[in-house]
Formats: sequence, C-alpha cells, structure tokens
Amino acid sequence: MTNNKKLLQWVDEMAKLCKPDKVHWCDGSEEENQMLIKKAIETGSFTPVPKRPNSYWVPSDPKDVARVEDRTYICSEKKEDAGPTNNWMDPKEMKKIMTKLYDGCMVGRTMYVIPYSMGPLGSKIAHIGIELTDSIYVVVNMRIMTRMGQKVLDILGEDGFFVPCMHSVGSPLLEGQKDVPWPCNDTKYITHFPEERMIWSFGSGYGGNALLGKKCFSLRIASVMAHDEGWMAEHMLILGVTPPGGEKKYIAAAFPSACGKTNLAMMTPSLPGWKVETVGDDIAWMKFGSDGRLYAINPEYGFFGVAPGTSMETNANAMLSMTENSIFTNVAFTDDGDVWWEGMTKEPPAHLTDWNGNDWTPDSGRKSSHPNARFTAPAGQCPVIDPAWEDPNGVPISAFLFGGRRSTVIPLVNEAYDWNHGVYLGSAAASETTAAAAGAVGKLRHDPFAMLPFCGYNMGDYFAHWIQIGRMTFPEKLPKIFYVNWFRKDENGKFMWPGYGDNIRVIKWILERIDETGEYVDTPIGRLPTKTAIDTSGLNMSPDTCLKLCYVDKQAWFEEVNEMREYYKIFGDKLPKQLNEELDKIEERLKK
Ligand code: OXD
Ligand code: MN
Repeated sequence: MTNNKKLLQWVDEMAKLCKPDKVHWCDGSEEENQMLIKKAIETGSFTPVPKRPNSYWVPSDPKDVARVEDRTYICSEKKEDAGPTNNWMDPKEMKKIMTKLYDGCMVGRTMYVIPYSMGPLGSKIAHIGIELTDSIYVVVNMRIMTRMGQKVLDILGEDGFFVPCMHSVGSPLLEGQKDVPWPCNDTKYITHFPEERMIWSFGSGYGGNALLGKKCFSLRIASVMAHDEGWMAEHMLILGVTPPGGEKKYIAAAFPSACGKTNLAMMTPSLPGWKVETVGDDIAWMKFGSDGRLYAINPEYGFFGVAPGTSMETNANAMLSMTENSIFTNVAFTDDGDVWWEGMTKEPPAHLTDWNGNDWTPDSGRKSSHPNARFTAPAGQCPVIDPAWEDPNGVPISAFLFGGRRSTVIPLVNEAYDWNHGVYLGSAAASETTAAAAGAVGKLRHDPFAMLPFCGYNMGDYFAHWIQIGRMTFPEKLPKIFYVNWFRKDENGKFMWPGYGDNIRVIKWILERIDETGEYVDTPIGRLPTKTAIDTSGLNMSPDTCLKLCYVDKQAWFEEVNEMREYYKIFGDKLPKQLNEELDKIEERLKK
C-alpha cells in the first residue's frame, strides 16, 4: 500500500468517474498473477499453451489488433508544441471528450492499480508510472514488460513523482451481462498531456495503446521529460558486442518497424569468436554519467515482439526467450498444444486453429496469424541477455546507428563526420514501406530517428535537442554516429548484403572506427569503408558487390539532398539551422 497523497487522491478521483465495482491494488506477486490468469481463463480470454509452461494464447477482437496512430494525440497547451508530425487537440477539449467516455466505463469491472518502474528499481535513470486499467490482459502483460507491484510503491514513497496512466477498454458490464473474451470499444483515443506528464487511453486493449509504459510513457511522455531535463528517450535497441579477445562496447540503434531491430539486438554473429549480448530491443533512456559519457538503460523488463517471421533461423534467441512464462497474442494454436505463426517453421502444420478461432489448413488461402501478432516474453529469459542489463547506472554507449530499408542510393554503412552530421543522418532516416503494411509497396516514408509515431513534441524541437546534447559534453565523449542499410538491392532486385548474423561484419568495422583503426574513405556523404575494410571472409562475395554496396551515386545524392530540403520545410522555423548547414555541406562536397 501507499501513503502517497497525490496517488491516493488520483485513484479515488478516477474510481469515482469510472465507477468500477472494486479497486484492486496490484502487489505484483506470483499468487496475484495466478489469480488473474485463472479469471482470464474463466472468461475465455486466455487459453493455456501446454507445450510452454505458464504461457497463454490470447486472440484479440479482430477490430483491435495494432497501435492506432490516427487516434493518437499529443494534447499540448499550444498546437505548435505538438508539431507537424503529431495529431493535436486542445487539452481541455480532449479532457471533456475523455471524461464523458470514462464516466461509468468500468461498471461491472475491477479497476486495477499497477505501480510500475520503467528501468531498474531505484536507478537514477528510471521513472515510475501508475497505470489504472480494467483489463486483466494489460495487468498480466505489464507484469512481464515492467517491474511492477508493491516494491515500486515503496520506492515512490510519500511524495515521489509518477506519471499517471489512465486506461479503459471502454466496455462496462451491465447487471447479468456475460463478458466477452476481448472487451474493447469502437471509439478509441490514445491521448497524452505532455505538460502534465499524463496519459489517458480509451477503447483499445492492444499493445502500445494499452500497455502504457511502452510507447506512451517511455517514448512520447519521456521524450518531453528528456527534452526539458537534458537527457534522451529514444526508440533504440541496445546491444553489447565483444570481439574475440577484445574489449566489449555498447551500441544503440534506431530503425523503423520491419527493419530487424529485435534481430540485431539478439544476433548470432557469423564471425567466429564474436559475441553479441542484449540489453534491450526497443527503447533506450540515456543520461550523461560523471565521466561525460552517455549511459543507457532499457526501461523495459520484457520483449513485446512481432511473432510472424521469427524462427530458430532468423532469431533463435528470441525463440528461446519465449519457451515459458509468455503470452501469445493473435498467433495460431496447434492441435498438439503449441503456438505457431507464419515463418516459424518451413513446413506449416497440417491443421491449426487460427487467430480468429477458426479451422486453418495450409491451403485455406489466408494467414493463420495476424501480421502484427505478438509474443510477450520476460527479457531475463533471453539466453544472450547482457550481464549489465539491470545495472542501475546503465551501460556506456560508444555508437549510435540509424537505418532503414532502402533498396537504392544508401550505402551499407556510413560514418558521420561529426555529431551535427550524425544528427542530420538521424533526421534523414527513411524506410521503404513493405507489403506487410497498408499502402503502396516500396514507397519511401520519412521516419526521423525512427521516432515519427513516438515523439511527444514538435519534431523540430526534438532535432534541436539532439544538437544540444552534442554540446553537453566533450566531443570525444560522444558516441560516434553511423547510418546503416542492410537492404540495398542489385540491378536484378536481389539483396546484395546477406544481413542477419552477417551484420556483425559491419559492426566489426564500426568498432574499428571507434578505435580509429578501421580503413575509410572520405566521400561527399560521409566516411565509408574502403573496398577491403569490411571483413567478408567466408562470404564468397565478389569485390564488385562490395564496391556496389558502398557506391555513392552523385546524381542520386543531389536528388536526395533536394528531397530533404523539401521535407525540412514542414518544420518551418523550428528546424535547427545546423541541419540546413549540413545539407549545404553535402551539396558543396558533391559539387567538387
Ligand atoms: C513496436 C513498434 O511495437 O515500434 O515496438 O511498433
Ligand atoms: Mn518499437
């Protein structure tokens, strides 16, 4: 329990508004977890997965399957503080709408109070959130994804700071009404009040819409806090890499969806003797240490990964992380009591129950799992979890990587000349849309710093914050910045780079560049490896392919620069002048 007045008052106020039958304060114990799981089995929401101890199969309502970006709002006092890349509504207006929706929304249900810490308990980089929810699925998932329960209230104390996170599936249960396995509401709002550091979510029980510690707090609200307080909240994986007999270094990398972030975080390196260990696969919070370096924690406690495409071939360590104590949402169920999804095995099972609960066979002409089906697994179960992943001080970051899926123009790897050039590279991150997503395939979408859906304030101010971070320490203490592209294709449309475990070859060069030993050539767009600098031993790759992977096509780069100039215009006078200067510099170098 707690004697934090602000918290008690807020829970009371919200309970009066939502009118639940009861309020349950989560202590985080295994006993409580099992009690909730039992309830969820009774309502038909959870089904045990016999092949995986303490694991459950959960199909959602087919209308509630993903983050809803068009229903996501940043409700800053001033519209310009949300910026051109976010939906905005006046906070008073939004609160009016939401208060109406919340009124009586928990009738017939229990309101769960989830105290949780993003980051190791008591870490100076960590922060506390309190989520109120009427969804057992949310409580059980939050217990995997965050450190939660009484121990968090103990740290919060009488007057500690917390981010209030209000959530309801928006589906009251009237007297005698039978519950459905996945309650939700057709009206959905995922709203953020950055000045108040507060989150209100309604209508969805899925992923980032409902597990409010993840995208809503750790990225949207935390990015605002980080801006105001001089730290960083980024959509980045964190990995530790140790060369044979060498010194371990930590790297943080930001890629948009479907660009292999979880795969890179848990990679099995193809070069003998190399070791990769995982600190996190999605989010990094970073602060300067007393030595002037940036230290990162993974604020999360679990993985909420996309299941389809994940296999022992593509990501064995992810597969081994979810052998027990895991939740499987919108995947298929096998006749022998396991889960399955497209890509998990080469041969699909002869018969399945699909994510909608229907019979499925390989010739049924549809997918057995939703493309955004997910596994929720405890990070501590990852076989290559880094020994320092819970270090409250974080791990020192030596390099930042940005990237995207680009079949042309962008080289395999490019080192920024300096911090501001690196910030330019992050702002220029873009990715081709894939067939898995709605819309035209291969269309280029800007996704600066992979933060497009996650930046809680004006993206122009966010760019300026990155420039500012570069001034907060000595240049040699800052991580070096690189842009990578695993997805360049040849004239026949074939990927030129093998990717996956072979990405260690690029990371090897990056580590050599950190030590100033890797061979490079200065080009108009940045510092590239010489044609023999990337270790391709055992790959059977022609020198011609190596050259093409890092070829700088001047004409295409003039066009790239023009396109970026156009893109930057949406930020108006919020765009830091340093970024246009970087564009000028690239253009000048291209003209030489
Ligand atoms: C995620 C995402 O779920 O970025 O991590 O959408
Ligand atoms: Mn993500």
